[in-house]
Amino acid sequence: MNITKFQHDLVNWYEAEKRDLPWRRESDPYKIWVSEIMLQQTRVDTVIPYFNRFMEQFPTIDALASADEEAVMKAWEGLGYYSRVRNLQSAVKEVAQNYGGSVPADKDKFLSLKGVGPYTGGAVLSIAYGLPEPAVDGNVMRVVSRLLSIWDDIAKPSTRKIFEQAVGELMYEEDPSSFNQALMELGAIICTPTSPSCLLCPVQNHCQAFEEGVQRELPVKTKKKADKKVHIGAVVLSTNDGRILIEKRPESGLLANLWQFPNVEMPAETNPRHVLESFVEQEFGVKAAVSSNKVTDIKHVFSHLTWEIDVYTGVIEGDVEKERTQLVEKEKVESFAFSVSHQKIWNHVKGRKE
Ligand code: ADE
Repeated sequence: MNITKFQHDLVNWYEAEKRDLPWRRESDPYKIWVSEIMLQQTRVDTVIPYFNRFMEQFPTIDALASADEEAVMKAWEGLGYYSRVRNLQSAVKEVAQNYGGSVPADKDKFLSLKGVGPYTGGAVLSIAYGLPEPAVDGNVMRVVSRLLSIWDDIAKPSTRKIFEQAVGELMYEEDPSSFNQALMELGAIICTPTSPSCLLCPVQNHCQAFEEGVQRELPVKTKKKADKKVHIGAVVLSTNDGRILIEKRPESGLLANLWQFPNVEMPAETNPRHVLESFVEQEFGVKAAVSSNKVTDIKHVFSHLTWEIDVYTGVIEGDVEKERTQLVEKEKVESFAFSVSHQKIWNHVKGRKE
C-alpha cells in the first residue's frame, strides 16, 4: 500500500463528508472525553441528545466534579453501562484535584484515570491534543482488518494490540485527529459490518480485502456463548395514600445505585402472586396484596444476560423502614434515575386505573 496516498484519500474524504456532530464542534478536551465515553457501546444517534443535555448541565470539569451523584446518574439514565458515568465522575474529580482542572495531555497520566482505557486514551489524546495515538475500537478493527487483510480473531482481547500496531504504522502524523475520526467515520458509514459499500469507498484501491474479494469474510469474530436468561417478577406497590415503593440497587454490580421497583428471580412452576407477596413481606417487612395477573412483560437484553420481567401491581398497608428504600409520591417517581427496564415498567403502570 502507498501509505501517503492512502492517508490523503482517507482524510480528504473525511473532511468533505464528515457528519456534523455536536462534539466535532468542540475542542475542549473535557467535552471530547465525555463524548468518547458516551460513544462506547452506544450509537451516535442515541448519544447526541444525551451529550447536548450533559453539556448544558455539566459544562466543565469543575461542574461535573462537584455535581450531586444522583443528578449525574439521572442525566445518564437510559444510556446503559452505568459504570461508565461513575468512573467518569471519579476521574474528573481526580483531574480537578490533581491536575488543576485540565485534562492531562500525557498518555500515562491520562490512562491512569478511572475508566480511561487504550481506546478512550487514544481517542481523546488524538482528537483534543493532536497526538499521534491509535484509537482502536470494534469499528476500527473491522475497517483495518479489511484494509490490511488481517485474519486475527477480534473477539480475543489480545488482538487489539495487533491493530494498534497497524494503525500506528498508518497514522497520518500531520493530523491524527482527522485520521482517527476518518477511520471511525468510514466504519460507520461505508465499511459497515454486513454489507460494506465498497463501490463508494474512498480507499477502495488501497484495500487488500477488496482486491481479494474477501471483505464480507472480515473481520474474523468468534461468537461468545449464548446469553443467560433470568426470569424476574417485579411489583409496583402503592400505599393507600398513593405513594410508590422504590429501592436503590446495591453499590456495586449490574446497574449499581440505580433505582428500581421490588423484584425477585422467579422460581419455575410457582404461583407468582404468592412468591411476590412473601418476597415483599420478607424483604420490606410489610404485607402486600399483589395482582393475580401480570400487567405486562418486558424483555431487556444486556451484553451478557437477558432479563424477562413479568410485571405486577400491588398494594401495601403501613410504612416501610429500610435503608435504600423510599415511599415516594407518584409525581416524584420520575425524578429518580431508573434502569431502562424499570422506566418501562413505570411507563406502563403509571397510566393505569386500578
Ligand atoms: N465513535 C466513537 N468515537 C466517535 C467519534 N468521535 N465520532 C463518531 N463516532 C464515534
